[in-house]
Amino acid sequence: DPARMEKIVSLCKRRGFVFQAGELYGGLNGVWDYGPLGAELKRNLKDYWWRKTVQERDDVLGMDGSILTMEQVLVASGHVGGFSDPMSDCLLSKARLRADQIPEQDGTVVWFTGAGHPASEWSIQREFAVLIAPGKEVGEAHKTARKYYSEFLANKQVSPKEIELVEDRREEVTGTTRFNPDNGSLLTEPRQFNLMLQTNFGATGEQIAYLRPETAQSIFVQYKNVLDSNRVKLPFGIAQVGKSFRNEINPRNFTFRSREFEQMEIEYFCHPDDGMRLTDEWLETRLSFYEEIGIPRAKLHINDIPDGERAFYSKKTYDIEYEFPFGVQELEGVAYRTDYDLGVHQKAAGKPLLYFDEETKEKFLPHVVEPSAGCDRTVLALICEAFDEETLTDDKDKEDVRTVLRFKPALAPVKVGIFPLLKKNEEQVRIAKEIQKSLQKWMTVSYDDGGAVGRRYRRQDEVGTPFCITVDFETLGEENADLKDTVTIRHRDSMEQERLPISGLLAWLLERVR
Ligand code: GAP
Repeated sequence: DPARMEKIVSLCKRRGFVFQAGELYGGLNGVWDYGPLGAELKRNLKDYWWRKTVQERDDVLGMDGSILTMEQVLVASGHVGGFSDPMSDCLLSKARLRADQIPEQDGTVVWFTGAGHPASEWSIQREFAVLIAPGKEVGEAHKTARKYYSEFLANKQVSPKEIELVEDRREEVTGTTRFNPDNGSLLTEPRQFNLMLQTNFGATGEQIAYLRPETAQSIFVQYKNVLDSNRVKLPFGIAQVGKSFRNEINPRNFTFRSREFEQMEIEYFCHPDDGMRLTDEWLETRLSFYEEIGIPRAKLHINDIPDGERAFYSKKTYDIEYEFPFGVQELEGVAYRTDYDLGVHQKAAGKPLLYFDEETKEKFLPHVVEPSAGCDRTVLALICEAFDEETLTDDKDKEDVRTVLRFKPALAPVKVGIFPLLKKNEEQVRIAKEIQKSLQKWMTVSYDDGGAVGRRYRRQDEVGTPFCITVDFETLGEENADLKDTVTIRHRDSMEQERLPISGLLAWLLERVR
């Protein structure tokens, strides 16, 4: 449902969840900044994952590895040689043809736009090409594009949804029909494009390092140090949350596929005999995790990757997928990686990584089960799942749409909104600020005194705040002495209200938002 996704993206920007990186300068493609509410939501998710995965388990330890990664590590892991996607080059943009020199060919629609763009940008979909070239007025370019486009549609050769602009000079090869040089093609033969981002090191910049493409490798490389420094026994895991970087050919679907993203990974080391069983157990553990954070089991799909489609070293891989508005897409992979990783590092580094079992006197290379989740993708799934537009009918039968993010309270970026009913009433303001002060040591709160109280409730609904507290005239004991020092608590989902004494607020809230 593209309309639903559009609304979600627009809400994310309007209310400060997610902004495009470098937006002020036109934006960096595939890279995102989290605004105040997005940062809170993401931190809540990472904290929850850490608590469930590391803190509440006896068999998992945490680590926080470096992003900059030695070349040798990624040569051994296979990333330098093989971490690539097939890519085709656009001959037109390579030749830097000016827009008015681009030949018109059957089935080609050329869209001229992008005055000020440093490079030509294009996309090919089936027999349909869209080219955005520099040096043309945007208005004029759009007119030309629309003309070509409607002619193209009139011939019914392509449906509108098959057309997509890609802000890049590269495009993923998806197996759709392509032009080729013999019959007027724009594309070269696909070649392998390494997805890693490289940087140079030291005073002369001669040493190469990579921004890590996954957090997993530092876990494998430090496996022996963690084992030796912590006196742990198999099976045990090492967990890590952090940034990873991939120069994705075609970043898309908002934050879903980005070039900079965070992963939440566990490498669970075990005896070879236990690998298959533990893979199934981790799948269940991870499915329950998603349910706990508010993603229902019914919206999750398990893809048991068949033989021949898994990585060559993997004996079992499950993808956990979620029904995003743009389709069913992967959230996490749970992969049984055997002893592949420790094996390649042991060999390349020339240092033994064997485990010695004191009880059985057995010496072996541990096997690894890896539940690897995407943090940004899960944040996106949380927002998509929480987003709701509720139609309310008031007394006058007027329809009114309430936008509400139905986050689980534990994940909600703001736990409670605090309002004085009347901004001008000094006593209400004083009490509301006092409540704010006492609660904000424990949770994120939002103080709001602007506009009618109904509007303030709606603003909080829209960002998923589960509770709102209003200090009103009854709090002051002006109408009924029994209600003195009580406040109204309003529930986001039911919109119901109840009265609670101020002294009991903290305990009442902690029970519900933790
Ligand atoms: N260590 C294994 C590994 O990295 P992966 O399937 O390539 O496996 C694991 O990545 C998870 O990381 C994915 O399921 C996804 O949630 C997230 N992820 C991968 N590439 C991503 C990207 N370009 N943007 C956002 N998330 C991504």
